[in-house]
Amino acid sequence: MARKRIAVIGAGISGLAAIKCCLDEGLEPTCFERNDDIGGLWKFQKNPSEKMPSIYKSVTINTSKEMMCFSDFPVPDHFPNYMHNSKLMDYFRMYASHFGLLKYIRFKTRVQSVRKCPDFPVSGQWDVVVEAEGQQESLLFHGVLVCSGHHTDPHLPLQAFPGIEKFKGRYFHSREYKSPEDFSGQRILVVGIGNSGVDIAGELSRVAKQVFLSTRRGSWILHRVWDNGYPMDSSFITRFNSFIQKIFSTALVNNYLEKTLNSRFNHAHYGLQPQHRPLSQHPTVSDDLPNHIISGRVQVKPNVKEFTETDAIFDDGTVEANIDAVVFATGYSFSFPFLDGLIEVADNEVSLYKLMFPPNLEKPTLAVIGLVQPLGIVLPIAELQSRWAARVFKGLSKLPSAKKMMADIAQRKRAMEKRYVKTARHTIQVDHVEYMDEIASLAGVKPSLLLLLLSDPKLAMEVFFGPCTPYQFRLQGPGKWDGARRAILTQRERIIKPLRTRVTSKDSLSSSSGLSLVKMASLGLALLAAGLTYIQ
Ligand SMILES: *[C@@H]1O[C@H](CO)[C@@H](O)[C@H](O)[C@H]1NC(C)=O
Repeated sequence: MARKRIAVIGAGISGLAAIKCCLDEGLEPTCFERNDDIGGLWKFQKNPSEKMPSIYKSVTINTSKEMMCFSDFPVPDHFPNYMHNSKLMDYFRMYASHFGLLKYIRFKTRVQSVRKCPDFPVSGQWDVVVEAEGQQESLLFHGVLVCSGHHTDPHLPLQAFPGIEKFKGRYFHSREYKSPEDFSGQRILVVGIGNSGVDIAGELSRVAKQVFLSTRRGSWILHRVWDNGYPMDSSFITRFNSFIQKIFSTALVNNYLEKTLNSRFNHAHYGLQPQHRPLSQHPTVSDDLPNHIISGRVQVKPNVKEFTETDAIFDDGTVEANIDAVVFATGYSFSFPFLDGLIEVADNEVSLYKLMFPPNLEKPTLAVIGLVQPLGIVLPIAELQSRWAARVFKGLSKLPSAKKMMADIAQRKRAMEKRYVKTARHTIQVDHVEYMDEIASLAGVKPSLLLLLLSDPKLAMEVFFGPCTPYQFRLQGPGKWDGARRAILTQRERIIKPLRTRVTSKDSLSSSSGLSLVKMASLGLALLAAGLTYIQ
């Protein structure tokens, strides 16, 4: 039989992973990318075209290299843990060239529509219309991987800000912000306390006369540099912590987190304390915000009630006069205009099985990749989703009945509503380890801790207590990678390597083997307590 042809829409991180996973499974991918380069939103563009996400010049990723890498391609050990966007692009180019992915990508090609073929109930095939240089072309595919991301439409709710139409200063969505030079000496209001808002406020505050940061709800602020100087995500996202979170109540974990976060700076004193608890909101990561606040460069303000020609009036009645510019860091929403209503999005809500498959298709030949907002990292999730999707397309992994899928979707929604503050920002949330394991089980690549403990205790320890790095999902099953074990056992060296640019006399890496016996015992306990869920 001829190889199945798969259309991959978008050549960002999800698209690159999707191409590679199709090739690994013997499928034939063709990727369509509207820009002239890979990298999706990570590709810095001074003048972004319509309706796409766009980063500013200084963006540095907020997830660390060992956690955010492709599972069989570690980031070079001398690269920094948190990479500038240009460094990240270097890594993506290395990946694409190492696995020969570029020849499968058609750049400057826009997908116009994806429609079922007339014989879809039997064939599961798709008619994909693409446009390049004004020419339309209709192509036939056996499967479609939608990798267009969830930062597609800038969200700019101007109706929520009465008077903005009278405002005489500049105002714009954060995607238009590129660098601070033009804002020297100005009084600037940044609206929104997500990662972009906090970053931009901080950067502007170094040149502005004064920056105000307005937030309706406040936020808990995490920082990149965690205990002992290890990256935050690699400290937090471990199987051990995920296990603790399962056996203790959420309230208890929240207490612990609040205590930890407040010990760095008291969120109430800094005007940031939210009503909700840390696990109920998508986190904001900023090492600098407390420094800017304590230095007075950034002042935290409540929601803006109203704008006048020159001023901003806040919910608490305070007024900041003579504002020169307003940056709306109000985020993005997502949509799939080319899918012709196949996937309905209402208020950022979608109904997809495992956040991937539309449940009502006669054949499971279309999947969305990377449409998740993890307390964790998108890239390894997108890659794992692609691995599973490729196996579903090949018929090696079967989806349950539409009814079962709908029930699963409903349950996921209920869990999300129960836990998170209700906003359009919290519709595709997942916990990293839990979701990775969920998809990995379906793809047959979830590491078996029990087997590991018996056969390779040293590795088992690092898998359980160490950062839950993507390599863990290459230890066994389809797509197994021989380098995975080594990559896991050397991950801490790769974290420290780029930091030690001046070698000190205290040479040895602080080793984690000291508590070995105690740790072994608690791993044993964890296995026992978790019972069958870990053993499958
Ligand atoms: C990093 O920033 C992005 C973009 O705002 C956000 O979606 C993501 O959750 C952040 N990562 C972490 C670990 O908080």
